[in-house]
Parts: sequence; C-alpha cells; structure tokens
Amino acid sequence: MSSRIAAVTGRQLWDSRGRPTVEAEVTLESGAVGRAIAPAGASRGAHEAIDLRDGGSAYGGFGVNRAVAGIGAEIAGALIGADARDQAAVDRILCDLDGTANKARLGANAVVAVSMAVLHAAAADAGAPLWRYLADGRKVRIPLPEIQIFGGGAHAGRRTDVQDFMVMCPNAGSFRRALEITDDVYRAAGRLMEEKGPLSGVADEGGWWPNFSSNEDALDTLTKAIEASGHRAGEDVFISLDIAANEFGDASGYALALDDRRLSGAEMAARIIDWAGRYPILSIEDPAGQDDWTTMAAITARIGDRVQIIGDDVLVTNAGRVARAAEAAVCNAALIKVNQVGTVTEARAALDAALDRGWGAIVSARSGESEDVTIAHLATGWNAGQLKVGSFTRSERMAKWNEMLRIEEAIGSHAEWAGFTAFADPIGRVAA
Ligand code: PGA
Ligand code: ZN
Repeated sequence: MSSRIAAVTGRQLWDSRGRPTVEAEVTLESGAVGRAIAPAGASRGAHEAIDLRDGGSAYGGFGVNRAVAGIGAEIAGALIGADARDQAAVDRILCDLDGTANKARLGANAVVAVSMAVLHAAAADAGAPLWRYLADGRKVRIPLPEIQIFGGGAHAGRRTDVQDFMVMCPNAGSFRRALEITDDVYRAAGRLMEEKGPLSGVADEGGWWPNFSSNEDALDTLTKAIEASGHRAGEDVFISLDIAANEFGDASGYALALDDRRLSGAEMAARIIDWAGRYPILSIEDPAGQDDWTTMAAITARIGDRVQIIGDDVLVTNAGRVARAAEAAVCNAALIKVNQVGTVTEARAALDAALDRGWGAIVSARSGESEDVTIAHLATGWNAGQLKVGSFTRSERMAKWNEMLRIEEAIGSHAEWAGFTAFADPIGRVAA
C-alpha cells in the first residue's frame, strides 16, 4: 500500500455562475482517491495567478479544454510516482512544470484543482477527514464565519460600489449559533428590502440583490436589519465590509458611482474612517486599490487598533507580499484564496506569513464556486481562525457552512470557538 500517485485526470464541470470549471481526480497506488474543483474570481487582483481559458466563441470564451488536457497529459506525466503525502514536493513539481511566475502556462485553474485533489487523496490514504489530517495532532479552533447579507460591486452589476456587506458574530460561542443568528439577520434584511421595493433576487454569492440609493443606505439598512433581527448590533452582530476598492479606484482616485463622487486617496481614507466610527464595523477588506498602499496604511494607522483591515487584492495570497505589506503596516489580516496563488503549499506559506506576524487570517471562497468544500477543512485544519464563503443561500455557499457544522460536531466537546481570538492583537483584546 503506497501513497504514491498512480493516476491524475481532469474533467470539465460547471461552476455556480454556469461557467466551465476544472475538476481534478487523483488516485494513489493504495487506491485512495482525491477530487477537487477550481473556483473562479470576478474581482481579481492584477498580481493573481491566471486561469487558462480557451477563448473563442464557445462558452463566452470561458472554456477549459486546454486546462483539462494539460492535467491528463503533462501534469499526470510529471506527478505519477510522486508521494501524495509530500504536498510540498508535489506543489514544487507543479510550479516547476508550469515554469511561469503566475501559473499562466498550465493555468491556475488546472494547477489548483490538482494540488487540492492530491491533498484530498493523501487525507483519504491516511484514513482521516481532511481537517484532521492537516491539523496533524495540533489543537485547532472552529473558525469565525464572515457571512454576506447584501452582494454588490462586480458581483451585482456594480449596483453598489462596495462589494460585500457582511456580518460576523464573534460572541456566538459556536459555529452552529453563529449561523442561527446570521439566518435571523438575513431574513430581517430581506423584509427590509421588500419594503424598499420588489425583491430582485440575489447577487453572485447569494446576498440580497442591492437596491440602494447610496453606499451608506446599504450600511443603514444592514444596521437596521441587525436590530430588527432581535440581536444587538456591535455586541452580538458586527458589520464586515469588503470594499474591493480595486474595482473602482487606484492611487489617482476612487470613483464611487452610486454616490456620484470622485475621491482622492486621502478622502477615501477619511470616508472609511468615518464609516468605522458611525457603524458597528469590525472588519474592512481592501479599502484601497491593490497598489495604493499609502491609503491603506493610513486607514490601518488610524483604526487598525479596533478594526480588522484585510488585504485581498493587495496581498493575493502571496507570502512575499504579506511580508512587504507587514513592513509597511498596510493591513493587519490576510485573505487566503488558494487559487489566487495556485497551490496548497504556497497558500499555506502566505497564511503562515500572516499568522507569524500576529495578523488575522481568513480562508476565503471565490465568487464563482461549486460543491467543493475544501476551504472549510483548510480554515479548520490550518487553524486560520476565520472563514469567508459568501451568503446564506445557494448551495455552493451552504455546502461549506454545512460542512463546518459536521466538522464542529466531529470535534465535539473539544471544539474551541475562535471568536475574538481570530483577530490580530490588539483588536481581539480591545473587542473582548
Ligand atoms: P472574487 O471576490 O472571488 O470575485 O474575486 C471575492 C473577494 O473579493 O473577496
Ligand atoms: Zn475581496
């Protein structure tokens, strides 16, 4: 019985936006099998690893035939015989084989699916659920979920500039309870949206479609929804925002279309700081463009002692960028998306770079997802402390939340809730 790789195959499946995506399947000599599906972003950073798409007219150019073909030929040829239990060696083979800095040749979609499928096969070979295989005997915490109530930005036809209006319940005490509270808030928000006009369905990640007259209107409505749900804003439930400012700005300025305002970097910082003072906000992601570190550092300097400032497009799950951003005190938490960098090992390195610096770390889904639940296991097994998946509808999102409920149940009475310990010091200390 050996954990050496015996076969690697790829296939085209469909993601939550109805676009082609890549699934990889890895079989070991022992017979253990692992499978994983690549997710896909819509608000991507310029420094991310790049998916290989077929282009042309079929499927709007989003076909993945070339990425799938690469898995069955080149990638299989290079990986057969490698030990699946040595993820670092497997991922090094993938990186060397691709040969580019951003996985552009084989495609980050092909590489990430294979890298995660190898990980699943290794866990199956060890006879352990993936989270426990990753924890490897170390104590882990149940991650704190960040859950979307309204979608916006690139996930909702840019009807709001801010991309994600989310909630966090660090005092919930358990994952199960955090979901129950979030469900109350989600329903209350739906009732308030109905009062504003006909409900127009949901955005890409399952949050209510945003029907607002300004970005602040959305913030007001979310605060009202928390209060109407019977929970206390700023105690039971906090607001978390992904500004995704990269989508509407850069170092030369920020164009808030819904507010009909163009802001300089300094004005953008002032607006974010103002919001953090007037709303029960605990976390803000990408409040400035990917290369506008000046604005982001100014925001962190002013409110970083009480608000989590997350780098997503700014850091792109790259350990080197995390190190440079830490030097410049750009933020105090890192979003971790495996497909942003391409392999499990590189994503783990970015996560460790963040945690080693006392930062928060959030394992995150993409806006294009599937039934793949790998990230629930990564967030738990890596003891990341936080998990961002999207909203509280649509099965590609609920699959991850439901998997977390199974994991929490499996850990049982030993389960330790991350809560405020998920945040960088001193945010956790202040808020607790
Ligand atoms: P994306 O957005 O997956 O569309 O890039 C998610 C995020 O910005 O966090
Ligand atoms: Zn983001």
